[in-house]
Amino acid sequence: MKEQNWWKECVVYQIYPRSFCDSNGDGIGDINGITTKLDYLKDLGVDVLWLSPVCKSPNDDNGYDISNYRDIMEEFGTMEDFHRMLEEAHKRGLKIMLDLVVNHTSDEHEWFNQSKRALDGGKYRDYYIWKKGKGENPPNNWGSFFGGSAWEYCEERKEYYLHIFSRKQPDLNWENPAVREEIYDMMQWWLNKGIDGFRMDVINLIGKDQNFPDGIKDGNAPYGDLVPYTHNMPQAHIYLKEMNEKILSKHDVITVGETLNTSVEDGIKYAGFDENELNMIFTFEHMNVDNLGNSKWNDQRFELRKLKEIMTRWQNGMYQKAWNSLYWNNHDQPRVVSRFGNDGPYRELSAKMLATCLHMMQGTPYIYQGEEIGMTNLYFDTIEEYEDIESRTAFEQCTKMEGVDEETMMRRIRWKSRDNARTPMQWNSRENAGFTKGTPWFTVNPNYKSINVEDQQQNEESILNYYKRLIALRKKYRIIVYGDYRLLDPESDKTFTYMRTLDQEKLLVACNFTDAQVRMQIPDELKGTKGRILISNYSHEDKMLIAAYGSEGRTGEDGSILLHPYETVVTLF
Ligand code: GLC
Ligand code: CA
Repeated sequence: MKEQNWWKECVVYQIYPRSFCDSNGDGIGDINGITTKLDYLKDLGVDVLWLSPVCKSPNDDNGYDISNYRDIMEEFGTMEDFHRMLEEAHKRGLKIMLDLVVNHTSDEHEWFNQSKRALDGGKYRDYYIWKKGKGENPPNNWGSFFGGSAWEYCEERKEYYLHIFSRKQPDLNWENPAVREEIYDMMQWWLNKGIDGFRMDVINLIGKDQNFPDGIKDGNAPYGDLVPYTHNMPQAHIYLKEMNEKILSKHDVITVGETLNTSVEDGIKYAGFDENELNMIFTFEHMNVDNLGNSKWNDQRFELRKLKEIMTRWQNGMYQKAWNSLYWNNHDQPRVVSRFGNDGPYRELSAKMLATCLHMMQGTPYIYQGEEIGMTNLYFDTIEEYEDIESRTAFEQCTKMEGVDEETMMRRIRWKSRDNARTPMQWNSRENAGFTKGTPWFTVNPNYKSINVEDQQQNEESILNYYKRLIALRKKYRIIVYGDYRLLDPESDKTFTYMRTLDQEKLLVACNFTDAQVRMQIPDELKGTKGRILISNYSHEDKMLIAAYGSEGRTGEDGSILLHPYETVVTLF
């Protein structure tokens, strides 16, 4: 792992354009809005901006259903706007990473229009996955992630097409070399514009078991599970190696694959240093920590021990073999301060603690818009108030077909809905949080009066300023990027403490995940030594850890240290 790469040392910031900043008052965030915030992002200290999809789309799934890969979504602006944003970003030394959504297209993409009609051959006939039904039934029992069968009958073609997501998101047929060439061409077209990388949407789903067998039905589930036949198939690796050879290897870009249902072993295959596929992947294991069985729909809090076990397994399993991405949040996950922290009286402390816990690990950290100011979940009373297709279809299917009562399902939706992350960015305490001068496309969280960028810019102790310091630390201390990792307290259900080591240096990262004081054991090797505190969410009179804690009366007779509620301390020895 001794090899150093810029993408290992950088910090990425994710923008969900629809909810970031509206420049023209139509209530929808746009590219010019992003351009106006580049100075803010530069000042935060991040290096790369990942934009959720900006290409033309009918927005069945907010841009994750692309109808033209070479054009900009009308609501977001024009290609000129995009070029200007790219140029302005580059001027500031910020890189731009696009969302490559190529497991599927929109059903309004021209390829699909052609494919529907291509009964008797022609170029587009096999661009998608078409199958005859079994009598009156679809080709197999697979259920779509967004409800219903994963197969949709097409009158024109008298066949079914596969859609792992909504019926407006038909899966591309990657078996077809013409499809792959088409995608590589498109990637090259964007690279020629000067973009700096790709986040690849559900990229581990591009290979499908060509036998299309029925899936196992779980409990009350009306459909069979397609995961074993569509995720992490050997073909996915073959295609990624091909993509790498033909396109990625020729550019110094950053790549991250979104990969559902991956183990560390899969991670090493996709992001292994010698595999020539991707730089890193987004695993979901830690995001599934509070699942109910296989389902994300649950309203229970997570278990800290489980979270630590997962994070640690990835930290150690990938070490010197492959590279991790680090994230608590994105446009598909509830807000972390609500989920793993405390969005009540301890919001600020717990947001800083969670940030520290993540940013001091090995891997490339990702910050999702609003995370840097501690934005929280927003809960609605009725399903109609939710915008997200996943929440709506899950409510429908779980209450109508799986026997979950409506009240229970609403509780689960509130807790886990992707809409928690999609409320507009909170810029200031003025109307609509400064997101738009018009009517926002989606509800602004009413807490914007107390949680917003402008206020936090003026407060030295804010979450925002804390993030700036965290990011700056990563730039200054190589141990944060390249050190190894060891979990110190696997048994504790209150603290998350780990140590990083690089050459002679040691970094101790202590996090209290509770609202009470707890004692943390100091590893023997550090007892009696002095370390320098690099960052903490509490003030420490003396910046030397062990001695200071002694003088503040925090060290117990056994050498343990008292941590305040949600306290975090990072100390360099
Ligand atoms: C990814 C995206 C999600 C989208 C899905 C289908 O999981 O992050 O937002 O709905 O893929 O494209
Ligand atoms: Ca707009």
